[in-house]
Amino acid sequence: MAAREAIVGTDSVPDESTFLFTVREVDTDTQREAILVRAGDGIAGWFNYCQHLTDVALDKGSGASMRDDEIVCVNHGAMFNADSGECTYGPCPGAVLESIDVTTDDGTVWLTETGYAFDHAGPIKTDPAALESSSNVQY
Ligand code: FES
Repeated sequence: MAAREAIVGTDSVPDESTFLFTVREVDTDTQREAILVRAGDGIAGWFNYCQHLTDVALDKGSGASMRDDEIVCVNHGAMFNADSGECTYGPCPGAVLESIDVTTDDGTVWLTETGYAFDHAGPIKTDPAALESSSNVQY
């Protein structure tokens, strides 16, 4: 059985929006954002980026919103089936969100995706120092 790490209690996954969290790719130590969403009788996990512009998150930093049980990309309104990840409306027909493996038991959502570790709830935290100019221009 693969190792698993607790993400959050199942009760903390909202009914009409998504739970945003950050994972770390073990090999590269790279952080990535993902969301949990209620789908059918269970909970599904998706990496937090759109299939229309893949360098853009689905949300504005607080988890993707939902409409009629579908995940909505805030940027141009694409909608994705919460259970299958398939785009059902918008500029990326036929595209599918990238899944992240999770499972639930004992009232907890567990991360089971190979090669990833749970980092923290919420968006990727940016080091304020990293936001300072890295320009090589000297004045
Ligand atoms: S970036 Fe998501 S719909 Fe355009």
